[in-house]
Amino acid sequence: MLPLEQLHSLLGEQTLRDLVAAFYQRVRHDDLIGPMYPQQDWQGAQERLADFLVYRLGGSQAYLVKRGHPRLRMRHMPFAIGQAEAQRWVQLMDEAMAQCALPAEAVLTLRAFFVQVAQSMRNQPG
Ligand code: HEM
Repeated sequence: MLPLEQLHSLLGEQTLRDLVAAFYQRVRHDDLIGPMYPQQDWQGAQERLADFLVYRLGGSQAYLVKRGHPRLRMRHMPFAIGQAEAQRWVQLMDEAMAQCALPAEAVLTLRAFFVQVAQSMRNQPG
């Protein structure tokens, strides 16, 4: 499996930003997790996730400069996230990766990362 930190140089920044745009296009209309997001700031939400991915995948550290340490578990505490919400997040990201036709090798690494982070965001039973 490719190391996560190599994916930014493999895929390029634009592909990562396109991926996040395709993901949020789905999140916006999702009945389960869509309503959790700031309805007046989709652009900001998109930028935060894209910056985070760029940083985590070995690219620019702009995310850290803008937002500080990610502290993702703490930042997700205001939202009730159980198994259904975590699975939906990953499902929408799977669809976005398919839409953007990412190379299979990259999908393998990314999917493992997304599943692991999504599971660690769970703060509700079930
Ligand atoms: C498990 C299901 C998940 C749900 C329901 C969820 C929901 C949310 C919501 C509602 C926000 C606030 C949007 C904003 O204003 O930025 C957010 C922020 C964020 N999420 Fe998630 N999320 C999930 C999983 C993940 C995963 C798997 C990742 C990373 C791989 C992630 C990364 C982020 C980042 C980087 C932010 C912005 C943090 C910041 O404020 O700087 N989330 N998420």
